[in-house]
Amino acid sequence: MPITVPKPSSSVWTIALLAAQVAHADYITYDNKRMGAPEKPYILRTYLPSLGLDDEVLSHHGRGFPSPRYSPSNGRLSGSGSYATIPVLPAAISVSYGPGLAYSWDTTECRLLYAWANGFLDMESHWGSPGNGRRNGNYSARLFGQVFYKAHGKPPLRINGKPHSNKVSYHGNRRIKGNPEFSYDVDGRRITVSVRPGPAAQTVEVAYLSSNESDVLGYVDPKTSFDLIYSGKGRAKVLLRPNASETHHGFKKPNLKIAEASSGAGKTLYTTYGCVACHSLDGSRSHGPTLRGLFGSKRNFPDHGAVAADENYLRESITKPNAKTVPGFTPGMMPAYPLDDNQVDSLVLFIQSLKQ
Ligand code: HEC
Repeated sequence: MPITVPKPSSSVWTIALLAAQVAHADYITYDNKRMGAPEKPYILRTYLPSLGLDDEVLSHHGRGFPSPRYSPSNGRLSGSGSYATIPVLPAAISVSYGPGLAYSWDTTECRLLYAWANGFLDMESHWGSPGNGRRNGNYSARLFGQVFYKAHGKPPLRINGKPHSNKVSYHGNRRIKGNPEFSYDVDGRRITVSVRPGPAAQTVEVAYLSSNESDVLGYVDPKTSFDLIYSGKGRAKVLLRPNASETHHGFKKPNLKIAEASSGAGKTLYTTYGCVACHSLDGSRSHGPTLRGLFGSKRNFPDHGAVAADENYLRESITKPNAKTVPGFTPGMMPAYPLDDNQVDSLVLFIQSLKQ
């Protein structure tokens, strides 16, 4: 006798199909620190830290007001005390291309806010700790990795040689082959922006397109070294180089205190403090000079004359990066680090060990 199987109703099929799609798209995760990949960027929209961006960058953001404390059990004001405001950005979109690049683009300011490498967002504040399920903090995600670019001052885009007005209005975003593209309206035209990993480590390529083809687009940013790849009718493209170096650890801080200075500890600091972003160990030129063979070599500074790269010189280069600028490199690019004596000694020992 043939067995008849009841045909599932179409809604059962729909649910099964949706579940299959969700599982396939890999949307469900217990990993608080997920990253994307160059061929599959991962996009997250969440509260973000403001990272001390200046008021000109956040010119459409208010600071909010403290609110009076209340009792959650009876809903009444407690009569004393207040909740402070939290400096978070509510409307930025973050994109991860894997360890090479992560960036956040703000839909209120309509501009790139910051970019970082070797990490993305730690979502423990929203998704809960994998250990005990609890959320952590105040809903703002935290960054982990090395921030190498931060926006400064007024918007860098120039339209027909002039800065555009402050009246930006976000239009939306769409994905082109997985890559997000953002558009906004300003002064009667629509600007479309895409942000991609640059050809070298810690660089970002930003492309602008105007709906008004006769617009001549340009780019001005006195605090960032950048290459104008293209600038002209309807389009501009820039390659941004590092203008910042901040290490972020998400919700857990590693202990970088060093009991006794050593070259090994210096090597760890070289990566964790992001020196690696600008100084190679193999002799190749990066944003800064290579550290290979530096110790014991000679430097010639136009304003200080010949200087031997001895221990004192290394110490000074690390603790006061702007004291002398190696010819051919961008002044002011290397950030000052809050390092204690053992940490500086360890870095010096590490650089000494790279003699030849
Ligand atoms: C954002 C890029 C950047 C980062 C990060 C950075 N530096 Fe530099 N550094 C430079 C540049 C550019 C120079 C050359 C210009 C100058 O002398 O200021 C330089 C110069 C130096 C020099 C002198 C090199 C020479 O050839 O004379 C030393 C030593 C040095 N850095 C060590 C470090 C250490 C250690 C760290 C991490 C704690 C670090 N730097 C992080 C960009 C960076």
